[in-house]
Amino acid sequence: MTLDISAIRRQFPILDQELIYLDSAATAQKPQIVIDALKEFYAKKNANVHRGMHGLAEQATTAYENARTSVQKFINAASPEEIIFTKSCTESINLVANSYSSRREGVRGRGSVVLSLLEHHSNIVPWMMCGAHLHWINIDEYGNTRLEQLDTYLKQENIELVAITGQSNVLGTRPPLKEIIQKAHAAGAYVLVDAAQLVAHHQVNVQELDCDFLAFSAHKLYGPTGIGVLYGKRELLEKMPPFIGGGMMIKEATQTGFTPADIPQKFEGGTPPIAQAIGLAAALEWLEQFAWKDIEEHEHALLKHAEHILKNIDGLKILPACHPEPDEGRHAQDVMVRRAHHDMERSGCLSFVLDKVHPHDLTDILGEQGICLRAGHHCAMPLHKRLNIPASTRVSFGIYNTIQEIDILADAIQHAQKILQ
Ligand code: ALA
Repeated sequence: MTLDISAIRRQFPILDQELIYLDSAATAQKPQIVIDALKEFYAKKNANVHRGMHGLAEQATTAYENARTSVQKFINAASPEEIIFTKSCTESINLVANSYSSRREGVRGRGSVVLSLLEHHSNIVPWMMCGAHLHWINIDEYGNTRLEQLDTYLKQENIELVAITGQSNVLGTRPPLKEIIQKAHAAGAYVLVDAAQLVAHHQVNVQELDCDFLAFSAHKLYGPTGIGVLYGKRELLEKMPPFIGGGMMIKEATQTGFTPADIPQKFEGGTPPIAQAIGLAAALEWLEQFAWKDIEEHEHALLKHAEHILKNIDGLKILPACHPEPDEGRHAQDVMVRRAHHDMERSGCLSFVLDKVHPHDLTDILGEQGICLRAGHHCAMPLHKRLNIPASTRVSFGIYNTIQEIDILADAIQHAQKILQ
């Protein structure tokens, strides 16, 4: 069944204005049902969770824990205790970097973490801050991760963990997670997946992937801001020390120390994002009415159309648009295999550069016409350095975008080009 995009758009009140929103990788718009869930909670059900004995508190606690179960089902985790609510995807990764590394001497100073050049700063800086020794997987000229480098690191270095994006927030390319996880596990390393961009575009099944940790946020998934999710395998979460100290994360506190609570509360010190968890559950319930196959087909068509129409604009280069590294010894067969892989595995967004036009000037002019794109380094400076550019312009999609919007964008880019060049 194909998606009824007009009907979907009517469910997003913000789209009821002159707006072409092509910035869903930064944050997705919210359907009315999510807005209503937040409003209803604050208007009629607001109370803290896991604290009060009164009816409102019990109702709020039940709704909050039901939201945890919704997330568990959404990513097929083995149990709700493996779902930790944080304030963002970034905080989820910081939690692992701090908590996991303080448990394992290795990562703090002596051990090693493998990252790819596709990573967002949120999956780079936390590992730097915890003192890990970093190894980088480069990308080829199609934006694919060079897995032979991972093989080398796993063979030659004492790798504790591989921290990898599920989908680049700049190129839209998707590293082959299953293969990476299998390789890492065979070498005794754990894997954290930054699924911030992936979750809104593809079904995620953590048991099938067999990843050890997976992080994402609600706001790119048509849910509210202010809440992130960390999935972790039970045996790892149980061994890790808490990250944030405060109320509800202890079994007992004395004048001299404390005993942490069991998971998931151990990692949820302080009042958690209650309304946001309820909003996230509403977003997941809303999303579940659509088949992933239909979402993927629709977004794939948008991406292909955008690639086709944008690449015909004079002076516009769709990224990666970079050269192979000199050490990439490979033959033509490899190139063809990679190209096919590249075509299949890119989703959610594409980025480009336009000759003699700064991305900020372009998005400024487009913004004046109600066309919303993101420009800059997209919090992925190492990737931009690899591409040899300081900044790019990104077009990113959500379930509500249309082919017509892309056509209007292409015309607007050409018009802006005439003014700016
Ligand atoms: N990480 C988000 C982006 O790529 C904010 O735009």
